Amino acid sequence: MIPQGFILDLLARVDIVEVVGRYVALKKAGQNYLGLCPFHGEKTPSFTVSPNKQFFHCFGCGAHGSAIGFLMDHRGLTYVEAIQELAQGAGLTVPQESLRSGQEAASNRGLSEVLQTAADFYRRQLKESPAAIEYLKSRGLTGAIAARYALGYAPDSWQALKSAFENYADPRLVDAGLVITGEENKRYDRFRGRVMYPIRNRRGSVIGFGARVLDASEPKYLNSPETALYHKGQELYGLFEAQEAIRNRGRVLVCEGYMDVIQLAQAGFGEAVAALGTAITAHHVTALFRLTPHVIFAFDGDSAGRKAARRALEATLPVIGDERRASFVLLPDGEDPDSLIREHGPGALEAELSRAHSLSQWFLRCIGEGRDLEQPEDRAAAVAAARPMLESMPTGALRMQLVRALGEATKTPSQDIETLFGLSPWRRLPPARETLPGGEPARAGKKVESLKRRLLQRLLAFPGLAREFNAQIAALAVDGDADLDRQLAEVWRAGTSAASAHSGAVLEALSQSQYISEYRALAARDLHGEDDEGLAKEELRAGFVAIEEERVRGEMDRIATEDMSAPARERYRELAGQLAELKRARTGRPTVQEPLDKHAPTR
Ligand code: UTP
Ligand code: MN
Repeated sequence: MIPQGFILDLLARVDIVEVVGRYVALKKAGQNYLGLCPFHGEKTPSFTVSPNKQFFHCFGCGAHGSAIGFLMDHRGLTYVEAIQELAQGAGLTVPQESLRSGQEAASNRGLSEVLQTAADFYRRQLKESPAAIEYLKSRGLTGAIAARYALGYAPDSWQALKSAFENYADPRLVDAGLVITGEENKRYDRFRGRVMYPIRNRRGSVIGFGARVLDASEPKYLNSPETALYHKGQELYGLFEAQEAIRNRGRVLVCEGYMDVIQLAQAGFGEAVAALGTAITAHHVTALFRLTPHVIFAFDGDSAGRKAARRALEATLPVIGDERRASFVLLPDGEDPDSLIREHGPGALEAELSRAHSLSQWFLRCIGEGRDLEQPEDRAAAVAAARPMLESMPTGALRMQLVRALGEATKTPSQDIETLFGLSPWRRLPPARETLPGGEPARAGKKVESLKRRLLQRLLAFPGLAREFNAQIAALAVDGDADLDRQLAEVWRAGTSAASAHSGAVLEALSQSQYISEYRALAARDLHGEDDEGLAKEELRAGFVAIEEERVRGEMDRIATEDMSAPARERYRELAGQLAELKRARTGRPTVQEPLDKHAPTR
């Protein structure tokens, strides 16, 4: 681990505008810099770099990060590599304690070597196995395509890898997921008697395997377990091989199976990739949108395929921007891309692609599925089903269009949908809480919530101010374990522990927080905000007082509606005095004594 303190110091010394400016042409626009986003194709710049806050944010695709994040995403560097590069430029040396992560990198390199050795071994074994060759031929594959995807064969014996490695007891074989330790520490190969599909990362290193039986036995596919190198939710099969075709053709085809990818590539669709036996994640979709503005999902036409296509929609909505396109193809029942091409040729697949559902069509299909939209109840259920999907989307023109389409399909004015969901066109409001009986306390709760959210936003923008508000944060944390209170405490802590804290560094320090996406959204919202630290401090101070006022007001309301006893009346007056004082403190002006006891209990 590289110590947090070092990373924060480092980020205090580098200038993100200079770092990003090496790769992206930036132009000053107000307090920020603006350029064409390097992470998605765009013609009008929405990529914003803030010199004050030291982070970048793209309003088109949502890409976001510090100088470290930029080097990781843009140059494909690892976290440690990005830090090393920045440190070098800033004349700093990464401290000795972080040797361990150096060791980690070295051990990952060790795993890579082991996996590559195994892949080479399996590839050689394929040449020696007539049965495996016959199997691949029977599936219509040529030798050329098998070589391109580096297919191999794991012999049907318990310790075949012994002949590939000098030391079969090497713990790295277990760490790489190639060897399993069984009872009495007996070791044996995980993959036996199977066609081997090496899974490569974007730089072409082998990180795992998919493995298929030659006959109808079960399980049909075995996959590498999650290892230090291999994370199913992030990697896509075939992405390394497909990268160039994806860029050239301006689209990527996402399908379900290993064989689909290879068959598609052989038929001229080199831009095909597959999820690795798991659902498509937002992580996957983000990675694809960084390569191309058009992602096409092609799923099998069975119920599992429809479910996968729905999951793909849910994974896409949070990361779709107005300049990105997603299409959804459901193949005829019982077909997958592999069988379709083999039976009917590449033209049949192209025809299916041309009949793809757009994102909005697929969205409407998903929410209407199993419902009769002629019935008011079903229409209401459809609106309710759409809610989490719409809420997950970034604000923008596409979301407005989906709201409109939903409105038309369910005979609901779109404004009503927006009000119901709290989606104003330019701002994402928190989802409505259950309304409390009486309504009034709920509204007060809302007010406190929005005050706190605003404070959080300003604290993220000016983390250096955190120290000034120790007492106020402590007071908040006392009576709440609500998310917002936890967030405020967390951001405050990060702000007070950083030497010279700007927004980007604090966000970097909080990158492991469960709330990081909320923090990023709030930080982005502040990009064009008031830039004067003195004013920010004043706003924070007044905000904390306003929260206290709300608390006092709440207690007064409770007394007024519930309790008429003499001590309660006494308490009410006391609170009224406090409230007047708080108001004075907030506005800095003496307030005229208001007729505070207008609904005070009488008698
Ligand atoms: P399918 O069952 O659709 O298989 O699984 P397929 O890709 O068409 O396989 P072939 O054509 O018979 O060779 C789709 C994907 O789900 C994962 C694999 O990634 C597979 O490609 N899967 C399937 C598993 O991980 N394990 C299994 O047992 C089956
Ligand atoms: Mn298949």
